[in-house]
Amino acid sequence: MPRSHSQPYAISDLRDQPGFCPTIADRVWRAWWQGAGHPLEHVADHMQEMLYEGALPFGLVAHEGATYLGSALIISCDLEERPQYAPWVAAVWVDADHRRRGIGKALVRRAAEATFDLGHDVAYLCALPEKRSFYEAFGWRRLEEDVGPHGLTVLTFSRGV
Ligand SMILES: CC(C)(COP(=O)(O)OP(=O)(O)OC[C@H]1O[C@@H](n2cnc3c(N)ncnc32)[C@H](O)[C@@H]1OP(=O)(O)O)[C@@H](O)C(=O)NCCC(=O)NCCS
Repeated sequence: MPRSHSQPYAISDLRDQPGFCPTIADRVWRAWWQGAGHPLEHVADHMQEMLYEGALPFGLVAHEGATYLGSALIISCDLEERPQYAPWVAAVWVDADHRRRGIGKALVRRAAEATFDLGHDVAYLCALPEKRSFYEAFGWRRLEEDVGPHGLTVLTFSRGV
């Protein structure tokens, strides 16, 4: 069965839309890895893991046909200081031209629901303090603040919220 919605745009499992992998690798690399000196190829290789059948990791892509809108990854560990938490919603990105359409919120919601479908009761996410309000506005709760060298906030979303 296809893992996507039809209106007004689709959110698909990357395993059903693998052609978006290079675009997502590009966005993730530019946003979070390029500045730290990591090569694009490392991120592109990591994206291939999103295509394996199995529980984690996996990716979601928001798209209108072949046009990429945004994406999120669901992974086992996003914060090395907190290996006890899992799974994580990570690398949430919406292209600038498509922001403020509700796509980011929809991606994060779908990502959390997907973790519940896998049997988890809580999904985790880490964010810079200035991004907290985006997540808190739709039900994410602060668990910890000022974690790690970047002072990240850990947020959780629980089944049934
Ligand atoms: C953060 C981001 C994913 C939001 O995506 P988006 O598709 O524009 O968000 P939405 O349209 O779903 O916004 C949902 C709500 O959050 C609000 N919002 C959007 N961006 C926000 C931000 N940066 N800070 C606070 N609130 C925000 C919107 O106003 C909207 O409120 P509403 O429902 O009352 O209208 C997007 O700006 C982005 O990709 N930024 C760069 C990457 C990034 O920072 N990712 C998050 C890493 S933790």
